[in-house]
Amino acid sequence: MIAAQTPIAVTGSTGRLGSRVASGLSELGMDHRLVVRDPAKAPDLPGTHIAACDYGDGAAARTALTGARTVFMVSAAETPDRVQQHLTFIDAAVAAGVERIVYVSFFGASATATFTLARDHWATEEHLRSVGIAHTILRDNIYADFTPYFVGTDGNIRGPAGDGRVAVVAQADIAEVAIAVLTSDGAYDGRTLNLTGPAALTLSEIAGILSDHLGRVVRYVPESIDEAYASRAVYAAPQWQVDAWVSTYVAIAAGELATVAPDIPEVTGHPATSLQQALAAGSGAER
Ligand SMILES: NC(=O)c1ccc[n+]([C@@H]2O[C@H](COP(=O)([O-])OP(=O)(O)OC[C@H]3O[C@@H](n4cnc5c(N)ncnc54)[C@H](OP(=O)(O)O)[C@@H]3O)[C@@H](O)[C@H]2O)c1
Repeated sequence: MIAAQTPIAVTGSTGRLGSRVASGLSELGMDHRLVVRDPAKAPDLPGTHIAACDYGDGAAARTALTGARTVFMVSAAETPDRVQQHLTFIDAAVAAGVERIVYVSFFGASATATFTLARDHWATEEHLRSVGIAHTILRDNIYADFTPYFVGTDGNIRGPAGDGRVAVVAQADIAEVAIAVLTSDGAYDGRTLNLTGPAALTLSEIAGILSDHLGRVVRYVPESIDEAYASRAVYAAPQWQVDAWVSTYVAIAAGELATVAPDIPEVTGHPATSLQQALAAGSGAER
């Protein structure tokens, strides 16, 4: 499907973060293109046009992105070949003549990050830097909206996070920053924005906030790394995925997700949303 010529293309609009960005652009009256894998799932928003591609299909991505100037790129679903999918999509954007990419990365992305998937984000960032396209990187901390998913089947949060802290961030704030960047006509080119919540919380504190939100007691039960692998064996998930799950907690223990950054207040003009506020607003994460 060939989309109409629009300057902004938004990926991920069939998901949570991308749909917030697409809706926000529509509310501003901005025409934009929704680049989706399945057009039947695309949201019905005023001023939008649909183009279809998977990140891993370079030819389809090039067609889908032709005519777009700025692309909002949500990171792909977690798969073993996610980095290659990202690189294929970025190369297709360059080939299509896209001027800038706004990429959703992860806080502390680096080749040596404890959280294994933050290394994948680093590889994607490095590719963005190498191909010479203008870009803005949004390094998001763990989504506040996802903290209910920390709670396991026994009603508690279990993991090897020690007494480490994490500055969970609301997807609403990330979307607001993304919209500001996408509509700034390049004002944030070359910038890496660190998107965090307003406070670094221990998992015991998060458990307390979730207890109030859910109306039942949630506790944080610290595990050793060996205990964490053992307690997740029941899912029979591939090794890379279990490594990702467990290393999220180890990264918290190591203090790698504890920094509270000023970028959300600076870009939006208001304080970052607290975990309590994000949960009260409802995110769709519990749907
Ligand atoms: N920081 C965090 O705490 C955290 C937690 C979880 C995930 N994430 C990352 O953040 C991203 C956005 O979060 P979210 O809550 O919006 O996730 P989500 O609701 O699962 O939405 C992901 C979106 O990306 C699209 N997508 C996935 N793989 C794709 C591919 N290979 N090619 C093209 N489109 C693809 C999906 O399309 P379909 O509808 O076709 O699947 C969907 O629209 C996730 O994709 C994940 O990479 C971050």
